[in-house]
Amino acid sequence: ATPDDHVIIISGATGDLARRKLLPGLYHLARAGLLPDRYRIVGSAPAAVALSSEAFREHAREAVAEFGLAKPEGPQWLEFESRLTFGAADPEDPGPLVAAVQEAEREIGGTPRLLHHLAVPPQACASVVQLLGASGLARNAGVIVEKPFGTDLASARALNDAIHTVFDESRVFRIDHFLGKESVDNILALRFANGLLEPIWNRDHISHVQIDVPEHIDIQGRAHFFEGTGTFRDMIVTHLFQLLGFIAMEPPATLDANSLRAEKDKVFQSLRPVDPARVVRGQYDGYRDEPGVDPASDTETLAALRLEIDNWRWAGVSFYLRSGKALAASRHVITLGFREPPLRMFPLAAQESAEGRHNELVIDFNDPGTITARFLAKKPGPDMRLTPADMVFDYADSFSRDHALEGYERLILDAMLGDQSLFTDATGIERLWEVAAPLLDSPPPVEPYAKGSWGPDSLTELIRPYRWHLPRSS
Ligand code: BG6
Repeated sequence: ATPDDHVIIISGATGDLARRKLLPGLYHLARAGLLPDRYRIVGSAPAAVALSSEAFREHAREAVAEFGLAKPEGPQWLEFESRLTFGAADPEDPGPLVAAVQEAEREIGGTPRLLHHLAVPPQACASVVQLLGASGLARNAGVIVEKPFGTDLASARALNDAIHTVFDESRVFRIDHFLGKESVDNILALRFANGLLEPIWNRDHISHVQIDVPEHIDIQGRAHFFEGTGTFRDMIVTHLFQLLGFIAMEPPATLDANSLRAEKDKVFQSLRPVDPARVVRGQYDGYRDEPGVDPASDTETLAALRLEIDNWRWAGVSFYLRSGKALAASRHVITLGFREPPLRMFPLAAQESAEGRHNELVIDFNDPGTITARFLAKKPGPDMRLTPADMVFDYADSFSRDHALEGYERLILDAMLGDQSLFTDATGIERLWEVAAPLLDSPPPVEPYAKGSWGPDSLTELIRPYRWHLPRSS
């Protein structure tokens, strides 16, 4: 399907997200022929940081050159660039934005749809929504709202209320770009299109689950956003909790938005509120010296926690979630650890038995991604000696990536098509803030860790009797 004619309006168009993801993503969609024939993109920001349309095109060109898949050149770039304009907007004066949108609508002709992408920090969302409502830009419009959605339960509720006074829920797209990643969607295929794994996908066979997203990058100059957010809100209560939803949910009745989101929400309903004693908060050495960071900052740049899901499928299974900045590597890994057989008949080499992780399913969703089943196999030779072996499915080897889209690209397209399946809903988000509340109310102190390390030592303690799958020793 191709979307209807659209004017896409990016609020926060001079910010980091627009530069890294949205502008390069829209250009890729245009090149792939997935945008409607008639579309315009209007950038917006407060007058104090606004650009001219000319400067915005240059900004977009630089963004695409740095972060895009294809170079910003040739007729395709000129064609794309010609669709970009800019309009400043402040609560006191939304005039330039309104004029830019009207101009874009006139050029398209008919009544194109509007799609607003609010690429602004959570604290700024409600006022942008009000501005859009007050200036008539919410008519015939959908809205993509960034994560984190609010900063706690009260602010998420207030934001939902503010949005609902202006937009109908059917046109609200709360984005979490991890849910648009190919290999994350593949979790649904893996689980529900195959009879192979689902019978063992439960507490009888799985001992614990790890969802681990270490990042090598530091905050990369995003002090303002990060100081107000921290890793728990930026990564855990958003991306990692959503992944947990996909891993833990029951089979949905259908793949439509309502069934999918309802099943995910049931998992969130069964999540036991976070116990602050089972949380590690870390801060990398030197964070407090970053420009724009409070020298006494208590903001965490790493968060790890243990969670329990109180339902029939998962009772007694621990879920460990971890993410942090300035760590030794960038990975996206979900590991399901399976229980050992009731009897151990085979002698293991001492080192291998100490490893204690012989049956694992490892989903690496670092696009394009791999899925690895790890099991014990007999080593060739006269003795019955076992050693771990891997069965690997590699996305890149198995499929052409010609039609692959990045998370943001897929989701912006879905929003234009009006499909909410891979977006989060108000009920789920509010429940997740409820689950997070004990930690937000009494966070443990941050523990320092060296840049480029694997985080504070207490992470090992947190996951005992298990071990983090990363770093991989073999
Ligand atoms: C964003 C966070 O949502 O996700 C960033 O705000 C983080 O802090 C990024 O670096 C990670 O996304 P990806 O797709 O690069 O793993």
